[in-house]
Amino acid sequence: MPEAYIVDALRTPIGRRKGSLAGVHPADLGAHVIKALFERTDLDPAVVDDCIFGCLDTIGPQAGDIARTCWLAAGMPLHVPGVTIDRQCGSSQQAVHFAAQGVMSGTADVIVAGGVQNMSAIPIGSAWRVAKDLGFADPFLGSVGWVERFGTEPVSQFTGAENIARKWDISREDMERFALQSHARAARAIDEGRFDREIVPFGECTTDEGVRRGSTMEKLASLKTLVPDGRMSAAVCSQISDGASALLVVSERALKEYGLEPIARIHHLSCRGDDPLLMLTAPIPATRHALKKTGMSIHDMDAIEINEAFASVVLAWEKELQPDMEKVNPNGGAIALGHPLGATGTKLMSTLIWELHRTGGRYGLQTMCEGGGQANVTIVERL
Ligand SMILES: CC(C)(COP(=O)(O)OP(=O)(O)OC[C@H]1O[C@@H](n2cnc3c(N)ncnc32)[C@H](O)[C@@H]1OP(=O)(O)O)[C@@H](O)C(=O)NCCC(=O)NCCS
Repeated sequence: MPEAYIVDALRTPIGRRKGSLAGVHPADLGAHVIKALFERTDLDPAVVDDCIFGCLDTIGPQAGDIARTCWLAAGMPLHVPGVTIDRQCGSSQQAVHFAAQGVMSGTADVIVAGGVQNMSAIPIGSAWRVAKDLGFADPFLGSVGWVERFGTEPVSQFTGAENIARKWDISREDMERFALQSHARAARAIDEGRFDREIVPFGECTTDEGVRRGSTMEKLASLKTLVPDGRMSAAVCSQISDGASALLVVSERALKEYGLEPIARIHHLSCRGDDPLLMLTAPIPATRHALKKTGMSIHDMDAIEINEAFASVVLAWEKELQPDMEKVNPNGGAIALGHPLGATGTKLMSTLIWELHRTGGRYGLQTMCEGGGQANVTIVERL
């Protein structure tokens, strides 16, 4: 089977809610990373087969196939199409999977895989709420089949994350210690220039805006919990953010024909599902599945990115998979750096690949929890 290679991986800095990127049209955020890919690789965009972008809440400026709009807003050739996909928080990781599968099937040679989200402009959950006036309170409760199977419990990532903390016996303090570490690692990564190869500054916005320096366990312990008897405060949740990210995925034929240098190879890709109400546990069976399928151990990974949607998600996964936590999110995660939903998959992939290059590591694994109780896993090999 043909192999899929990654030639470049980059992103905007991640803007905090109502921060520097809040006023930027999502098409222009996406266009920014698309343009940067071709400037950096010197590849002619006319040879691209497709532009696949992840995005959620595809209403307003994110509606109408935002992948295509980003491509066109970047001034790219009209004959190259674009398609927007929704695997919830893992949408752009799924974009990489679809891109790689296109290349591996021999039906495509060059694909842009990325994602975009402006959560300041279009708040999270907007697409869930937008049809209220049309009689749909949410996407599920009007479905006979859904209610027969899952009942009428509200579907909420916050409830899922609280229930995971209870089920895996993860305390408030455990989560806050993890959150502090995320900020400390992110601050270190910024100070040491570890994101320099992946970040393409957007105007005055040159660095990730979510990191809080100098917070303490005492400060975190004083924050209000999100629900009265809950364990989670805002500090242990991923932040609301704005940003875009993109990768160039190509075939071996394209590497040769266009003289491109790969930075990584896709070693494995898969996606699994789990309980949609607990919602955020699928990284556990998905990681197990990927390791079994490849015959690898978690300790074969030199770096791991698991999305910090909530601290409890990562800590439950840690209890089950027993990885070396020094190698897990070594440069912080979404608790500190933000989680611009549709953009996070290829943001994490950029960080993972460049971390392997920085450390000389060989294999990296990425996984993310996703709405619907799903999780993608990608294993990349640094080249
Ligand atoms: C959790 C959430 C609702 C919090 O939003 P918010 O209340 O606007 O959060 P803020 O950033 O204002 O933080 C609330 C308070 O905690 C404080 N705080 C948060 N993190 C902190 C930290 N690390 N250190 C110190 N204080 C912190 C803030 O300063 C703020 O205090 P204030 O009220 O005195 O200003 C929001 O971040 C969210 O929805 N996150 C999850 C997004 C999501 O679901 N993504 C998909 C995943 S499946």
